[in-house]
Amino acid sequence: MNSTMSLNEALKNHQRDKVERLKLVTLDGVPFLDLTQLNWENVKNFHCHPDDLLIASYPKAGTTWLQEITDMVLNDGDLEKCRRAPIYDRIPFLEIVEPKPLPSGLDQIAALTPPRVIKTHLPFQLVPKSFWEQDCKAIYIARNGKDNLVSYYHFDLMNKEQPDPGTWEQYIMKFMAGNVAWGSWSDHVKGWWSGKDKHQILYLFYEDMKENPKREICKLSQFLGKDLNEDILDRIVNHTSFEVMKENPMANYSTIPTFLFDPKVSSFMRKGKVGNWKEHFTVAQNEIFDEYYHQKMADTSLTFRFQL
Ligand code: A3P
Repeated sequence: MNSTMSLNEALKNHQRDKVERLKLVTLDGVPFLDLTQLNWENVKNFHCHPDDLLIASYPKAGTTWLQEITDMVLNDGDLEKCRRAPIYDRIPFLEIVEPKPLPSGLDQIAALTPPRVIKTHLPFQLVPKSFWEQDCKAIYIARNGKDNLVSYYHFDLMNKEQPDPGTWEQYIMKFMAGNVAWGSWSDHVKGWWSGKDKHQILYLFYEDMKENPKREICKLSQFLGKDLNEDILDRIVNHTSFEVMKENPMANYSTIPTFLFDPKVSSFMRKGKVGNWKEHFTVAQNEIFDEYYHQKMADTSLTFRFQL
């Protein structure tokens, strides 16, 4: 990697007098962080290599977990190789645009030699056409909407560049209305669910990964054509457990300056559980969400588990 495009290096020298929370802007019908529009045409016209791999998700669905697992699988469980850089430099974020002089996702990707692994939160219909024209593989992770919402709320509180989440009560309404960055959760998970029948997409669930990480890592390895032995699989399970990743500075986002990610508000590796929503939703809020869920999921075969 060209070190000038390492986000980690750029962040080390990065200071700001004031961090402004970004606003939302609608691009092709979906709300995004307003800086996203600066690279929007270039993102849409992005040309990938046929062996590039896409890691996709709705924000806070377990993307970082999936990224770490994928990097471990591709590097045959080599721990040293997976400590070469923070996860956001190993697997750049396609559509992200940071305030200057920080490199954008496209800058970072351009500095890597293909084949690359690329992260995106784009809804299925906005993925650059090149990925499907080149028949690239993609791995999608989906998480039940209630835990996803709770995680996103805490992230928006601690990440000082995310739009202000407002109160918990307000946030539930915003989330259900799809009025958050990257838009509607239900459209996202359903869009990729339909997309998996047309392209080389492996669709994984956060809940399945928690239930049996080894089974899901095997599935992922097979999808990538990697035949890993038991020792390597066990090492990957261990290295990507919540407890180990929480202590790994190359995976836990502790390298992001505290004026951007405020650890006093929440840690990036917060709970890592299925069912944490029960500690946040009131009975009435849960009923409202259930109604929203049943309405939105009436037209799909996709279902979620809200507890294990
Ligand atoms: P919580 O906020 O519920 O703890 P993303 O990477 O898409 O931003 O998702 C972040 C969520 O995934 C956070 O959820 C985080 O704790 C959880 N997560 C990260 N690594 C994990 C792991 N190894 N096992 C389980 N959950 C993990």
